[in-house]
Amino acid sequence: TTAADLVVVSNRLPVDRSPEDEQWRPSPGGLVAALEPVLQSTGGAWVGWPGQPDLALDPFSFDGMELVPVELSAEDLELFYEGFSNDTIWPLYHDVISPPAYHRDWWEAYVRVNERYAHAAASVAAENATVWVHDYQLQLVPRMLRELRPDVIIGYFHHIPFPAYGIYSQLPWRTQVLEGLLGADVIGFQRVADAGNFARAVRRRLGFETKAGSIRVPTADGSVRTAIAKAYPISIDASVYDELARRPDVQQRAREIRESLGDPDVVLFGVDRLDYTKGIGHRLKAYGELLADGRLDVERVTLVQVASPSRERVAAYMQLRDEIELTVGRINGDYDTVGHTAIRYLHHSYPREEMVALYLAADVMLVTALRDGMNLVAKEYVASRVDGDGVLVLSEFTGAADELTQAVRVNPHDIEGLKDAITAAIEMPVAERRRRMRALRRRVRDHDVERWSRAFLTDLDEVTR
Ligand code: G6P
Repeated sequence: TTAADLVVVSNRLPVDRSPEDEQWRPSPGGLVAALEPVLQSTGGAWVGWPGQPDLALDPFSFDGMELVPVELSAEDLELFYEGFSNDTIWPLYHDVISPPAYHRDWWEAYVRVNERYAHAAASVAAENATVWVHDYQLQLVPRMLRELRPDVIIGYFHHIPFPAYGIYSQLPWRTQVLEGLLGADVIGFQRVADAGNFARAVRRRLGFETKAGSIRVPTADGSVRTAIAKAYPISIDASVYDELARRPDVQQRAREIRESLGDPDVVLFGVDRLDYTKGIGHRLKAYGELLADGRLDVERVTLVQVASPSRERVAAYMQLRDEIELTVGRINGDYDTVGHTAIRYLHHSYPREEMVALYLAADVMLVTALRDGMNLVAKEYVASRVDGDGVLVLSEFTGAADELTQAVRVNPHDIEGLKDAITAAIEMPVAERRRRMRALRRRVRDHDVERWSRAFLTDLDEVTR
């Protein structure tokens, strides 16, 4: 393999292989869009899992990047991915919405698999390269990589929340995880609050000095190194959504969607990975009560809920699916008429064109997450509303709420408040809708994902100089 000056490391590679023609295609995530141009211009590499168990592949070129596959066995996936990543860290870091499970064999697999990623990155990085590690599945990689390759510059970005110390300290391996992360020169978070929680954990657990986002890390040779912990709120490639939303065929599709729903006066819309952090149940409860109270009329209003399949082998996700589908069935059974449905529930994921058509068709977008690192759906909705209309209802427990201050803000735990927010959004006068949407669009346009990656990489460059 060629030695790369910039190496991105994430749990998954940014490509999927279609089962039909065995061709690799870019996966829908926004991270690829953000990093592809930088990787192409630097001849960079991306280290990650190719998405299927027991797939041993040599590195290959794709779209001007070098892709370096990491093999994960079925057992690795069970213990490292489904277990420690998605049944320990994920619920713990989302404020224990679902109880985290602590198993020593999951932790051992996490260490083992993180080592594999660190070795793959070490083998592909050029002398003095920059390595950018992503997300909670790989928190030990920064330190492991620093030991293997003291010459490289290491960045880490945490895409999900970092919890308050009182919660974090449940983790039996809380010290090792902090030490793992502190192997990086810059540790990026979504919100200022996340960076603060991390710095506090480092202070309380390791006793290191922290000041305004600078952490003094003692090293083995007795010297002290500075690591930065700071917020870099991630975003989307807003221009992609803007362009799609201006396409006549996409706008035509948006009209068709409304027609096929029976041309209701109001379309409410929710789209989430089917995850217990997203507050889908709270949203359904509020909506069901509004129908029961007669404050909404099924002849006039429809809720479209897209729930994309996610982590389907993890028990908490199976249980959530059962609960949500029971609730949807109950509400539809109680309030549907022959010609109108209360909830159009879709357990699928859709291509981006269809998503943009749905965003354009939606009068009110409901983002009611109980905890969310950022929530890019909120930003995608705003970027798609080229008509300047539409109302975003946004949970205050998302990273996006720090930036999208013109949204209708809600606490999803407060069902009465959520009901009031939904009706306020439906009844909002057009002038106010447009005024808010104008401000929201400006924010998303000016803070796109390209600006995010540039800010992070610039700080990484500066801190190590
Ligand atoms: C979140 C995480 C990502 C993860 C994605 C999809 O956005 O921050 O790291 O890739 O969910 O989850 P999955 O488990 O399918 O990779």
